[in-house]
Amino acid sequence: MLLIVKDSYEAMSREAARVVAERMRRKPNLVLGLATGGTPLGLYKELIRMHKEEGLSFAKVTTFNLDEYIGLPRTHDQSYFYFMRENLFKHIDIDPRYIHVPDGMAPEIDAHCEWYESEITRYGGIDVQILGIGANGHIAFNEPGSSLGSRTRIKTLTEQTVKDNARFFKNMAEVPKTAITMGIGTIMEAKEVILLANKTNKAEAIRAAIEGPMTAMVPASIIQMHRKAYVMVDKEAASKLTHTFTG
Ligand code: F6R
Repeated sequence: MLLIVKDSYEAMSREAARVVAERMRRKPNLVLGLATGGTPLGLYKELIRMHKEEGLSFAKVTTFNLDEYIGLPRTHDQSYFYFMRENLFKHIDIDPRYIHVPDGMAPEIDAHCEWYESEITRYGGIDVQILGIGANGHIAFNEPGSSLGSRTRIKTLTEQTVKDNARFFKNMAEVPKTAITMGIGTIMEAKEVILLANKTNKAEAIRAAIEGPMTAMVPASIIQMHRKAYVMVDKEAASKLTHTFTG
């Protein structure tokens, strides 16, 4: 595992974009795993800039997103598909046929999850997977206690997550209670993973993931077992690490 501590969120985002762009230049048909949430927004902004100013092309890139809410159509402004379109896809030259986001409206969710896994395999596996981390150590929608060998499947959101999401919806009834998520086993098969974290509220999760024991209670701690993992953080998110020089 390579820990990279940067002075700022912007510097962390630029470093992640530099690695992704380097992999894309080496392999134009890269298979890229993507995350939603606030953390990767700086990375996406930098990739868009590189596309516009430096000719970085996504034309042959295939993407697989980590997760999606069940019951939200792709046109819903809280769906992860919508998020990805607004924050990355519509600004770059990606071929829409190569975009994969789990379909929260699929009539047979279990069959869809199996299909999603087989699509990842059909494209040769994920080359680089971008990850964020929850304050409780979750990755994708794999909350504490998720099997470390899990595959793409339905997960019931924790009460806390449902409550946290409520502010984005008109009323509680509209807030999704379930989601489709890649499993921890699926994520671990990516050839490289880049876990990003910034701000003090992620410091404890980063400490537990990197320096704590590997445990299903901190799903991100599985990264200790990955053969090629980068953990890119800002100073605040690194502030609770004790075994690492962060000056
Ligand atoms: C999103 C995802 C989540 C987030 C995590 C951190 O696709 O898989 O695990 O990465 O909840 O979210 P932010 O970046 O908003 O702090």
